[in-house]
Amino acid sequence: MRQCPTIADQRAWTREQRQAARTIGFVPTMGALHEGHLTLVRQAKKSCATVVVSIFVNPTQFDRPEDFDKYPNTLAQDLALLEQEGVDAVFLPTKEELYPNGFATFVEVVGPLTDKLCAIARPGHFRGVSTVVAKLFNIVQPDVAVFGQKDLQQVLIVGRMVQDLDIPVRIEVGLTKREPDGLAMSSRNRRLSPAARKVALSLPRALELANRAFKSGEHTSLTLTNCVGEEILTNEGTDLDYADVIKLDGFKEVEFADEGCILAAAVFVDGVRLIDHVMLGGPSIPVIIE
Ligand code: PAF
Repeated sequence: MRQCPTIADQRAWTREQRQAARTIGFVPTMGALHEGHLTLVRQAKKSCATVVVSIFVNPTQFDRPEDFDKYPNTLAQDLALLEQEGVDAVFLPTKEELYPNGFATFVEVVGPLTDKLCAIARPGHFRGVSTVVAKLFNIVQPDVAVFGQKDLQQVLIVGRMVQDLDIPVRIEVGLTKREPDGLAMSSRNRRLSPAARKVALSLPRALELANRAFKSGEHTSLTLTNCVGEEILTNEGTDLDYADVIKLDGFKEVEFADEGCILAAAVFVDGVRLIDHVMLGGPSIPVIIE
């Protein structure tokens, strides 16, 4: 596995692949890799002849500096996992490499995709994501890039940016990977104490309860989101950031849900922010509900 610490190294690797007529699959990450990331890597390997993963904790997408400082760094373990998966190259730029002194250009998607959910709760977050992903696409020049479905708003924003800026890459979405008890995999789960880890299960449980209510005929968005709030807030140490029913077509809030809608929620469990969503009327989240 080739390690590319600079933009020049990464471009040289990309050039070699192009010369050998190999298609390039790309999985951008911030490290602290888990099985969810590895599933995206496997998907990229199926789609392309060669695969590159980037590991870069992007400072411009953190709205809270303490979140950036606390972001787990497990580089040695990450590299071992990627090696095992047969990844061909890993791009490991420094902050100075991607954001040198004088950096002053940002990419911002505007409109319905960035006026709700995480965009409200985390001002500037998606501007940082779009900017770094645009830069990574320019440097890596992949044919295919794979993003996780858990961060649905992120992948829709990236898709919009790629279309609007005519970036020649196909975006693929990898399904949300869950722990056996139903919690969506996330690098942030490592920050949960054993007690908070148990409480965190109230998020997928709440979403599944709402999904069941929807399947039994409850389509009023407020009732469905209240169902999520009640299930979460009965646990000590929790706070509800948002719970919203969104129609995917147009990415708008709706008063009454139908099958083209998701219920998305973000919660704080002992100060750790977790997000998840369920496709209303779609497959059940595998959680135990007593
Ligand atoms: O999803 C992530 O890990 C990050 O937002 C991404 C896409 C790597 C950009 O920093």
